[in-house]
Amino acid sequence: MKEKTEPKQNPAHIAIIMDGNGRWANKQGLPRIAGHQEGLKATRIAVQAAKDCGVKYLTLYSFSAENWKRPEEEVNFLFRLMEDTLRKEGEELHQNNVKVLFIGRRDELPQELKDTMKNIEKLTYDNTGLNLIFAINYGGRQEITDAVQKIMDSGEKNITEDVIRKNLYTADIPFPDLIIRTSGEKRISNFLLWQGAYAEFYFTPVLWPAFTEADFLKAIGAYHRRHRRFGGAS
Ligand code: IPE
Ligand code: IPE
Ligand code: MG
Repeated sequence: MKEKTEPKQNPAHIAIIMDGNGRWANKQGLPRIAGHQEGLKATRIAVQAAKDCGVKYLTLYSFSAENWKRPEEEVNFLFRLMEDTLRKEGEELHQNNVKVLFIGRRDELPQELKDTMKNIEKLTYDNTGLNLIFAINYGGRQEITDAVQKIMDSGEKNITEDVIRKNLYTADIPFPDLIIRTSGEKRISNFLLWQGAYAEFYFTPVLWPAFTEADFLKAIGAYHRRHRRFGGAS
């Protein structure tokens, strides 16, 4: 029997665990923070590639709720890097019709970063191109915990999957179709636990600062060869 040839759609939502900055730096004999700085280049490449591929949502795991365990200097460097970048590149993202969003526990972040996040969200609010979502101080368990608290506070008594979904940070964002993790680690590290229930996973040994457009396209190619069943029969 001939295999059915359906035109495959690119994933509407790609989420990336951008891992391996420290190891990349280590290999070059540089301090870890140099890896984060270099990782920014890969982030720009991924944003451009997502736009070119017509991806509607790109979620980037930028700082996990557990990354506070790192040395204070590294944590501070990361927040400063995010703030600087968002401040400097906000206008260009806006010109490119990109809508910038954030998920994660904001309260605990430095004030300047929170202000910059708010400004860029406001600036790009009405944009209709790529939805670019930064997960900052994000943890899937924390997100579900926060959702349960919100539901309790609202007085809702009837718990359904839909009620929970609507109380996640990602209430208005479709679930990811493809989750990419770089650096060879094969774990979820508390990323999009609820949303990723039926995501396709793509793992690559490439360290994040070395990630290229070709790597991005390879991940999409692998996605096209998957058969998503969502529990059904093929
Ligand atoms: C990912 O790279 C960036 C963040 C987690 C903020 P890492 O800093 O985790 O790099 P490795 O895993 O130590 O190589
Ligand atoms: C996950 O990477 C978090 C981000 C990429 C922001 P980690 O490097 O923190 O994950 P683990 O500690 O190896 O699981
Ligand atoms: Mg890591």
